[in-house]
Amino acid sequence: MFALTPEQLKLQARARELAQGPVRGRAAEVDRTEQYPWDNVERLKDGGFVGMTIPTEYGGQGLSYLDAVLVTEQMSQACSVTGRVVVETNMGAISAVMAYGSPEQKQLAARMVLDGDKPAICITEPDAGSSATEMTTRADKRGNRYVINGAKHWITGGGVSRLHLIFARVFDENGVEEGIGGFLAIRDETEGLKIVKREPTMGLRGIPEAEIAFEDMEVPPSALVMPPRGLKKGFADLMNAYNSQRVGAATVALGIAQGAYELALDWSETREQFGRPINEFQGIQWKLADMSIKLAASQALIYKAATSAPAGGFPDMVMAAQAKVFTSEAAIEVANQALQIFGARGYSRNNPVERMVRDVRMFTIGGGTAEILRTVVAGGILKKKLPQARDGYVKKAAE
Ligand code: FAD
Ligand code: COA
Repeated sequence: MFALTPEQLKLQARARELAQGPVRGRAAEVDRTEQYPWDNVERLKDGGFVGMTIPTEYGGQGLSYLDAVLVTEQMSQACSVTGRVVVETNMGAISAVMAYGSPEQKQLAARMVLDGDKPAICITEPDAGSSATEMTTRADKRGNRYVINGAKHWITGGGVSRLHLIFARVFDENGVEEGIGGFLAIRDETEGLKIVKREPTMGLRGIPEAEIAFEDMEVPPSALVMPPRGLKKGFADLMNAYNSQRVGAATVALGIAQGAYELALDWSETREQFGRPINEFQGIQWKLADMSIKLAASQALIYKAATSAPAGGFPDMVMAAQAKVFTSEAAIEVANQALQIFGARGYSRNNPVERMVRDVRMFTIGGGTAEILRTVVAGGILKKKLPQARDGYVKKAAE
C-alpha cells in the first residue's frame, strides 16, 4: 500500500547511513552528558534533513510529511533526540508558520530552521496541560504593540531553540478577548522572554525541557501568526497544524522501538542458554512475533496519517491521534520486551536498550496524552463534540 518512490527510497537510505554511522555513535554520550547534539544538527543540515518540508520558494525542498517521517524513523532508531530535531524542523511550529504566516514570517522562520534552529512550540502551562484552552498567558494590544505576560512549562528546546511560537489569549485595546493566537518571538532578541529553569527528565535527556516566562514581553502586531479563519478560530487552526507534530512524535516512538527490537533480535540469536540460542524457545519467539506485529501496525498507521495531508495542508486529526495513541503504547511495550530479552544485560546503563526504554516512555504524554487523544478519536468517530469541561461539577470547598 505504501510503495515508496525511488526518491523516497534514496532519501531513506541516505538517512539510514547517517543514522547508523555518526548519529548512532553519539547517542549514549548525548544521553549521558545531557547536551544538545549541535554536531548532529550540523550533520542533519549537511544532509538536507532540516526544513525539508519548507516550500522551495522559501529555500526548502517542498517535501512531504511522509518524507519527513522516513528520515525521522531512521534517525530515531539510532538517537531519539536527533529524531526529535528532524520532527521539529519539519513539522509542528514550522508547519504552522509556513501555512499561516505572512511572507516576512515565512522568510524568517525558513531562514532560521534551514540554519539549524529547532523552533519551540509553547502551549502547555502549569495549570493548563490537557485542558490547553484554559491557558492564561495573555497578549494585550497596547497601541502598536502586544504585551505578553504568562508562563509555559515543559517546552522542548527551551534554552537551545531561538524561534518560539507562543500560544496566548489575545485581548484588544478595550480588554475584550479575541481568541487564542500564536506569536513569534526570538530568544535573546525579544526582551522579556526568559528561560526560567530546565526540568530534569527520565529520558530524551539531550534536549532540554524548560519553563519559560514572558514578562511584559513586547512584540509588534507583525509577530502574530494570523490563521486563515481569524483569531476566533485561531486555536483550532493552530492545533490543525499541530497534527503534523503528533505524527512526528509517533514516528520517534516507532523508531526507538524499531531500534530496540533490532538489538533484541540479534541478541536472541547470539545468546545461548540450555545449549541453544534463546530464540529457539517459543517464549522468546512469540515475544519477537508480537513485537514485529506492533511495529508493522504502528508504521502503517503513521504512514497513513502522514499521507492523509492534502497539498499544503495537515494530517487528519483523527488519523494523527490514532497513530500516536497506538504507536506510543506499542513502542513502550516493544522497548520493554527488548530489555527483557537481554536479561540482566538489558538493565545495564551500558546497553542502549536501557536508554531506549527511558526515552520511549514520554510519548504517551507529550503532544497530547493517550487519554486525551482517545477522546479526540472518539469525537471523530462519533461525530460529536465531547466537551470535557461540563456544568454540574462542584469543587470541594477549601478546608
Ligand atoms: P494533565 O493534563 O495534568 O493530565 C494528567 C493525567 O490526567 C494524564 O494522564 C491525562 O491523560 C489525564 N487527563 C486529563 N484530562 C483528562 C480527560 N479529560 N480525560 C481522561 N484523562 C484525562 N508542551 C508544549 O507546549 N510544548 C512542548 O514542546 C512540550 N514538550 C513536552 C515534552 C515532554 C518530554 C513532555 C513530557 C511534555 C511536553 N509538553 C510540551 C507538555 C505536554 O503537552 C503535556 O504534558 C500534556 O499535554 C499533558 O498535560 P499535563 O502534563 O499537564 O497533564
Ligand atoms: N486538529 C484540528 N482541530 C482541533 C484539534 C486538532 N488536533 N484539536 C482541537 N481542534 C479544534 C476543535 O475541533 C475545536 O474547533 P471548533 O471550535 O471549530 O469545534 C477547537 O479546536 C477547540 O477544541 P475543543 O476540543 O472544543 O477544545 P477544548 O477546550 O475541549 O480543549 C483540547 C481540548 C483541544 C485542548 C484537547 O483535546 C487537547 O488536544 N489537549 C492536548 C493539548 C496538547 O496536545 N498539547 C501539546 C503541547 S506540545
